[in-house]
Amino acid sequence: MGRIETFAEMAINRRCKLQRNGIDMTTLLAGASGATGKLLAEQLLNRGQKVRAIVRAADRLPPELLDHPDLSVVEGTVLDFTDAEVAQHVMDCSSIACCLGHNLTFKGVYGHPRRLVTDSIRRLCRTVQASPKDKPAKFVLMNTAGNSNRSLIEPVGFAQRMVIGLVRLLLPPHVDNEKAADYLRTEFAEDSGAVEWCVVRPDSLTNETTVTTYDLHCSPTRSAIFNPGKTSRINVAHFMADLITDDATWSKWKGQMPVIYNRPLQDNES
Ligand SMILES: NC(=O)c1ccc[n+]([C@@H]2O[C@H](COP(=O)([O-])OP(=O)(O)OC[C@H]3O[C@@H](n4cnc5c(N)ncnc54)[C@H](OP(=O)(O)O)[C@@H]3O)[C@@H](O)[C@H]2O)c1
Repeated sequence: MGRIETFAEMAINRRCKLQRNGIDMTTLLAGASGATGKLLAEQLLNRGQKVRAIVRAADRLPPELLDHPDLSVVEGTVLDFTDAEVAQHVMDCSSIACCLGHNLTFKGVYGHPRRLVTDSIRRLCRTVQASPKDKPAKFVLMNTAGNSNRSLIEPVGFAQRMVIGLVRLLLPPHVDNEKAADYLRTEFAEDSGAVEWCVVRPDSLTNETTVTTYDLHCSPTRSAIFNPGKTSRINVAHFMADLITDDATWSKWKGQMPVIYNRPLQDNES
């Protein structure tokens, strides 16, 4: 008679089976200590996903995340790890999410690394490309409604073009956001690569405690400079988690740069 499996063996076997079937539920999250990153980690954990959080300092994460059994923390930065370390962190992840952003201090905005987001995602994607899996990895990047999807015709008025030109000169993080989205859009334009991507574009970020109704559009429906909309970070995290966990949401938005706005209250109520 065969030996009865222990619970631990059953758990290991189940995990091996999931991995054999290409279903690995770990998301590598860069920028997990940020205002949106923390919310995304929480959303994913609540949905039974595993999260590997890359943070400069673990104590920037709240205790309820640190204590969660499905969260593992890697201290350091994507740009400072060795190639072998990046490969090890990426290896068993089916998804990568990036909520990195320059800190709003003089050093954060004008110091190094000037291309924090672009160089980090390029390094992560190249690592995935070097050891492709059966299924492409999902890459979800938090970006901004102030950036255009240059694969589409997104009309931008003359005054906004002038202001964006100035912003590019004066605020290097904006150029970093543009280049990061351009990298995914142009490097993985074909549907057959090791990486599939979605660039999420929120407008002016706000902090709310609960998820509310939000609207998604292929392109901005208002001017990010002269008539900005609001997007709560928790709604951004909710949508990013949907992209990672829900196949229908992913099929709908992969290879695109959806803009996300909170639905105005009066529209919510109707
Ligand atoms: N503010 C807005 O209204 C707005 C609107 C649309 C889009 N966005 C974009 O949304 C993104 C995220 O926004 P957020 O408010 O959630 O960001 P946030 O709270 O400022 O978090 C930024 C994250 O990036 C990390 N980080 C900063 N500098 C780093 C470095 N040199 N090396 C490694 N990690 C570094 C931070 O780590 P530490 O915790 O260690 O500092 C933190 O995890 C940004 O790209 C921003 O441009 C902002």
